[in-house]
Amino acid sequence: MAKSDSQFSCAHSFSRHLPEKIVTNDDLSQRMDTSDEWITQRAGIKERRWVEAPMTTSDLGVQAARQTLQLCENKPVDAIIAATLSPDYNFPGIGVQLQHKLGLPHVPAFDLRNQCSGFLYGLEMADAFIRAGTYSRILLVGAEVHSTGLDVSTRGRDIAVLFGDGAGSCIVEAQTEESLNYTDSFTVIDSELHSDGEFVKELWCENVGSAHWPVRVDAEMVAEGRIFPQMNGRKVFEHAVKRMAEVSLSLLTKHGLSANDVAYVVPHQANLRINQMVGKQLKIAPEKVWNTIEKYGNTTAATIPIGMSHLVEEQSLEKDSFVLSCAFGSGFTWGAGLLRKC
Ligand SMILES: CC(C)(COP(=O)(O)OP(=O)(O)OC[C@H]1O[C@@H](n2cnc3c(N)ncnc32)[C@H](O)[C@@H]1OP(=O)(O)O)[C@@H](O)C(=O)NCCC(=O)NCCS
Repeated sequence: MAKSDSQFSCAHSFSRHLPEKIVTNDDLSQRMDTSDEWITQRAGIKERRWVEAPMTTSDLGVQAARQTLQLCENKPVDAIIAATLSPDYNFPGIGVQLQHKLGLPHVPAFDLRNQCSGFLYGLEMADAFIRAGTYSRILLVGAEVHSTGLDVSTRGRDIAVLFGDGAGSCIVEAQTEESLNYTDSFTVIDSELHSDGEFVKELWCENVGSAHWPVRVDAEMVAEGRIFPQMNGRKVFEHAVKRMAEVSLSLLTKHGLSANDVAYVVPHQANLRINQMVGKQLKIAPEKVWNTIEKYGNTTAATIPIGMSHLVEEQSLEKDSFVLSCAFGSGFTWGAGLLRKC
């Protein structure tokens, strides 16, 4: 459906928080049968950040969100949208914890479960709220702690080497003269989202869940490692390349643009080779594909705001330049978002 033009939104104050502890590929090879060479060649990852001590997903989210709120001079937000696949608890989600830990008034807190596409789903939702006039300044957070939920033995090496912990955030705000003044402000032009539940079991963590009866988890499931994420890596890879390229082209075409019109693509970071192949399909120069995977791995819902925070820090984007983001993940879910620098 065409979006209403009555009220635009802009995204700004992108921030990130990464745990201090760096885990290199060599560190992982002490714990499982893997190597720096395998991980670098297959996935493009050199290191990732993993939490130390009792640091939760909401704690990381709070750290990123505090920076975002400071950047926008602690102006009041009237809603929170939080995306994660690794909440502190089975329920409630981290949205309410962000509200409480940040000391925000009793604003609504939405939780999204769209995994690697979580941030783009959140952006679409925030933009829709703004356009409808429901809220005017929304805190959007993506945060993950993967490290404590991975099988770090050789049995889980295909997944464990790929994931990192981290958080990213931004404000999505009704566009006013004031909001246009932020140095990293982008008009949210449009987004396109998809899902296909046929592939639920190709990338999933089945426990703890209500599909199990009469109890949700038992000793046998734990012994079999069914409390850890499982993935059909090749199938995920194949679909990720196809879907991220397809949805990006669809969104650009809808707006009469080609990849040449885009200053940067900020894709989800699951595998460097996926992003190189998406770049080729979009026919965009490799240096315009903004990657952070080498130092952070895959931080799922946190990945895109982390990438955006680096982009705005390290590149001076010209006014009106387009930034395209795209993501693919468990579900399967996928999507793209189109931003224009204010
Ligand atoms: C996971 C991924 C890197 C594996 O790369 P691949 O080239 O497909 O490798 P395969 O799964 O075919 O495994 C090749 C071999 O490496 C082994 N291997 C798997 N993980 C390994 C690791 N960490 N270290 C060393 N060897 C490993 C496999 O056991 C297999 O050995 P075999 O040939 O003796 O059976 C790749 O499939 C991928 O990135 N998939 C998508 C991941 C993704 O996007 N996930 C999140 C989506 S948001």
